[in-house]
Amino acid sequence: MQDIIADIQRLKKEKNAVILAHYYEDGDIQDIADHVGDSFYLAKMGQKTNADVILLAGVVFMAESVKVLNPTKTVLVPDLNAGCSLVNGAPFDRYKAWREKHPDGIAVTYINSSAEVKAISDVIVTSSNAPQILEAIPRDRKILFGPDQHLGRFLSKKYNRQMELWPGACEVHVLFNAKRLVELIMKNPDAVVIAHPECEDAILQHAQVVGSTSRLLEEVEKNPSQKFIVATEPGIFHQMKKVRPDAELIQAPIEDGSCNCNNCPYMKMNTLEKIRSSLQFLQPQVNLPESLRAKAQVSLDRMMSITSNEPVTWPDKFIYTEV
Ligand code: 13P
Ligand code: SF4
Repeated sequence: MQDIIADIQRLKKEKNAVILAHYYEDGDIQDIADHVGDSFYLAKMGQKTNADVILLAGVVFMAESVKVLNPTKTVLVPDLNAGCSLVNGAPFDRYKAWREKHPDGIAVTYINSSAEVKAISDVIVTSSNAPQILEAIPRDRKILFGPDQHLGRFLSKKYNRQMELWPGACEVHVLFNAKRLVELIMKNPDAVVIAHPECEDAILQHAQVVGSTSRLLEEVEKNPSQKFIVATEPGIFHQMKKVRPDAELIQAPIEDGSCNCNNCPYMKMNTLEKIRSSLQFLQPQVNLPESLRAKAQVSLDRMMSITSNEPVTWPDKFIYTEV
């Protein structure tokens, strides 16, 4: 493994490349990355970097967002099959038909979506910036929220905003089992329960803290509790253990505890070998037709403007122009 790591470090210098990794990657991948973070942080770092090559150790929609925001860079993803069930569950034609059914609605779309869906959306959100984005939308406007119904439902309840929800879900986060979680809480009454908002409401109801991966990590770092029950993908334990080696971290239970199936199968497609090969051959690249890229940029730019406290305007109606 040391040889591969040395090769990656050398290739990074040779190609003037930066590696961005999501918290759900294996620990050895997080450790060779220049920046590790949640999906909003990775999009921002991808926009800011001066490197010529950006390797996104995460899933394809994350690399697409980086390409949309930074089109002159070479954007690599170690495995083009690293998809996401939320992307798969929101095909462009059906999403467009949904928008056309509610033409006066503002389409607030989770970053876990394809570039095509972003291109017919008004604003993009991540779980870390969604409250700020919702705040910027006039109260009298109807909101279409997709593709993650659980994040949408959580936001709708918490911020008292009516929403039409797209019926998508994360195949990993819906595996957590509420009955088994309650049993675990009864056995560990001193544990703080923290959960990602992609979990079902039945799980979120038992969580003291609901937030993005970076918010959950922050809670583990700052909360003096010695025990946490964590309802999200286990890759994040790598950083949690670093910031709180003294704390006990318990994975929230899934129905059949015998499998490893709450590992995200897409995030876990990436390996150090694939990263080395990707940097060596500058493949596979994420490229988008310019017309599609420019349209997807509109909704991503709105997210970036709102989170930088810049004013934005909203279209009155959805008018489709070919992507
Ligand atoms: P975060 O933005 O919270 O990192 O979530 C990304 C994701 O895909 C969660 O499943
Ligand atoms: Fe998609 Fe779920 Fe994997 Fe996140 S954990 S990338 S939402 S399938």
